[in-house]
Amino acid sequence: MASSPTVSGRNGQPTGEVSSASGSLAVMVTATTQSPRREAFGSRNVFILSAIGSAVGLGNIWRFPYVAYEGGGGAFLIPYLCALLTAGIPLLFFDYAIGHRFRGSAPLAFRRMHRRAEALGWWQVLICVVIAVYYAVIIAWAAMYTWFSAQLTWGPGNENDFFFADFLRSADVREVGVSTEFVPQVGVPLAVVWVIVIVIMGFGVKRGIGRANTVLMPLLTVMFAILVVQSLFLPGAFDGLDAFFAPNWQALADPGVWASAYGHIFFSLSVAFGIMVTYSSYLKRKTDLTGSGLVVAFANSGFEILAGIGVFAALGFMAQAQGAEVSGVASSGIGLAFVAFPTIVSQATGGSIIGVLFFGALVFAGLTSLISILEVIVAALQDKLGWGRVRTTLTVSIPLAVISMALFSTTTALSVLDTTDAFVNAFGIMAVALVAVIVVAWLLHRLPALKEHLDRRSSFPVGWVWMLLVGALAPLVLGYLFVSEIIAKTSEPYGGYPAWFLGIFGWGMAIALVVCGVLLSLLPWGDRSHAKDDPSYDEFLAVEHYDPDPETSAITVPATTQRGADA
Ligand code: PFF
Repeated sequence: MASSPTVSGRNGQPTGEVSSASGSLAVMVTATTQSPRREAFGSRNVFILSAIGSAVGLGNIWRFPYVAYEGGGGAFLIPYLCALLTAGIPLLFFDYAIGHRFRGSAPLAFRRMHRRAEALGWWQVLICVVIAVYYAVIIAWAAMYTWFSAQLTWGPGNENDFFFADFLRSADVREVGVSTEFVPQVGVPLAVVWVIVIVIMGFGVKRGIGRANTVLMPLLTVMFAILVVQSLFLPGAFDGLDAFFAPNWQALADPGVWASAYGHIFFSLSVAFGIMVTYSSYLKRKTDLTGSGLVVAFANSGFEILAGIGVFAALGFMAQAQGAEVSGVASSGIGLAFVAFPTIVSQATGGSIIGVLFFGALVFAGLTSLISILEVIVAALQDKLGWGRVRTTLTVSIPLAVISMALFSTTTALSVLDTTDAFVNAFGIMAVALVAVIVVAWLLHRLPALKEHLDRRSSFPVGWVWMLLVGALAPLVLGYLFVSEIIAKTSEPYGGYPAWFLGIFGWGMAIALVVCGVLLSLLPWGDRSHAKDDPSYDEFLAVEHYDPDPETSAITVPATTQRGADA
């Protein structure tokens, strides 16, 4: 952070000059625009759409319905709303404030907050690396299932075996170790997924990510709406809705239900992944951060509730068709998507349409989340190395695609995916969120400055309540969740997998992320890095730091720099 009136650019050359004239403060900024200006979203709406695109992912479609059903059905709305209002939205604002205030990818933004905090950013980047490599393969499966749905490839009645034995050719890690046997029907679509995201990422924030979200999000919404309406017309749909919404008030007395509401909301809103820090760094200086955050949060919740209705209506149909209870057929995750849904597709009239819409929605929701997570990694490297967009995208994505193909297009993909997902969520995302709020609130005492930043440019002020929620409630809840996860995962081997396997893909991976995050933060930032030379941040600081009220004071910025600054 600049604390002197001279804003330094490349090689320490002064680039900003502050002068005060006749009572009003005028800021003259003469930037040396040698390095490319930081990218930006085309407009606030595109940012909102992209943030919703990131938040609405597989979690909304296959996780929320079951979490809500298990957590008391209609009564779950209470812990869910509490979690959303007291933790989800406040932490979303926290990420926005950091990204927007410090205008950088996660490592750079944390570094600008405090030199030692940079490791937090790299930890988030590495978490994103792990998630990206397995998230891509689920999109590839869903893409294949969109195709299979059209012709009921699995053969009615054979949905379970088709998925595990015929499609994945799943083998047991206890018997074969980590396999290298290539499964082409997974590997080929996985390669295609990587090519698609690499092309989108290569086009950059405005023309790649912004445009992809502008096309995919409306499409996803329409497809999803049709899917839900069609599910509601299935026989038995209302039994499913009844099971989903029937309130079980006793569930509210169970602390585990509250914990699952909080755990779900962090994941659902994509907070603490570094995604929202990165995306908000691409917003223009004057923007309504809290207003945007509310739109994103409520749109995300709207999607979840819609997914709950669609999924349970379809499960109600399945239960009726099988003469079973809804509780007997309800499931989540991979079992729901790749076994229960294909069964529904086989049995319902017009099932193929339901299948194409459902799996197509998974593909679109997954793609918009995957590009957001890749952006965390690409932006971090771009900031650090000062490279161009295409070069950085290829340098990041090609090795990731290779790792993703090597680990997840083989016969042991499912076990590796299951383990890395469970551990990276518990000891990656939840842990980094916990450490970040403690560091920022209690060690660096930055909450008042971040609150001020949010309040200065937003449609409604967050006030001291926000500081209390982020500084006190969030560490308590996250701490509780973290300790319960440690207890759960140490009391018995996760998923019954062998110790060596959990040691590598579970504990080892989670610990490696922290260690490598710290090591990466020790690498020096070269002269070409954006920490050293970033005209847009220099201007931002000059205006931020010296102008008490940016809305009303006279700000003199040369036309050439002004155009880009608020782009
Ligand atoms: N909110 C996202 C979801 O519900 O799936 C979380 C997420 C996961 C975002 C994976 C991005 C991602 F790559």
